[in-house]
Amino acid sequence: MTISPLITLNDGHSIPQLGLGTWPLDDRQVATAVVHALEAGYRHIDTAVKYGNEEGVGNGIRASGIDRGELFITTKLDGEFQGQDRAVAGLEGSLSRLGLDYVDLLLIHWPLPGRDEFVSTWKTFERLQAEGKARSIGVSNFKPAHLERLLAETDVVPAVNQIQLSPAVTRTADREFDSRHGIVTESYSPLGGSGASLLQAPILTQLGEKYGKTPAQVVLRWHIEQGLVVIPKSANSERMRQNLEVFDFALSPQDLAELADLDEGPGAGNDSDRTGH
Ligand SMILES: NC(=O)c1ccc[n+]([C@@H]2O[C@H](COP(=O)([O-])OP(=O)(O)OC[C@H]3O[C@@H](n4cnc5c(N)ncnc54)[C@H](OP(=O)(O)O)[C@@H]3O)[C@@H](O)[C@H]2O)c1
Repeated sequence: MTISPLITLNDGHSIPQLGLGTWPLDDRQVATAVVHALEAGYRHIDTAVKYGNEEGVGNGIRASGIDRGELFITTKLDGEFQGQDRAVAGLEGSLSRLGLDYVDLLLIHWPLPGRDEFVSTWKTFERLQAEGKARSIGVSNFKPAHLERLLAETDVVPAVNQIQLSPAVTRTADREFDSRHGIVTESYSPLGGSGASLLQAPILTQLGEKYGKTPAQVVLRWHIEQGLVVIPKSANSERMRQNLEVFDFALSPQDLAELADLDEGPGAGNDSDRTGH
């Protein structure tokens, strides 16, 4: 059984580098997916209030029989829970649906700069972390300008920034900013997202043939080699296992140079100044 390596966060906690994404699975589907993932060796599960499947994640965890201490569970609070009191209530709701006493990582799902509440939300996250209800705290979809405000106006540097990232959407400037400030970048939609054409790129098939791997495994290896945390979603237990088998080969500098051709440029991907919930 493959177990993902760990990455140490700026608060001293560790996160398994590869975890399971769970959007858009419903409670029933996700409970089965979590059981299969934990059987396969996954120890890190990514959910969010907005996915509406935290109860199913909790059911899957309990059905697996795996000790809570071995698991890394992330949830995210969306705009409805921005602001001091709402963030406290938001995490309480998540913990109750998950059936857990704490989450390993609590994220602000989107900055929603138009609401201008992410700084006060973050101050509440700092308190929730001090109370032990969230071991690590972080953000999602934050651009450097949003992070600059947190760094200037609050005390705790986010441990993680979860952003849309793949060989097609490389977000180099965002990653450089995160790394300069000790923030681990986590890739969502790492395979390009559901329905994306990324996995059809001929270079991925060629490199897959070279290493005896699938296009998805080549893409996931690309993330791993750049020190990114990565959370591919699959509801299929065979693809789930496949996605974990990416720690036994390495891409060469020449491979990486060829993969760079997949980059769609700085404007690719979503823009969190314009989207989000
Ligand atoms: N923070 C945010 O705002 C945000 C936004 C979006 C997503 N996320 C998180 O990131 C996770 C992953 O992102 P995502 O679900 O958008 O996209 P993704 O993981 O890049 O792609 C998922 C798609 O790829 C397919 N797939 C998985 N493994 C495969 C393989 N080995 N070969 C071929 N196809 C494969 C899946 O189908 P099957 O299930 O049929 O295998 C699904 O259609 C989400 O589930 C969620 O937890 C966060």
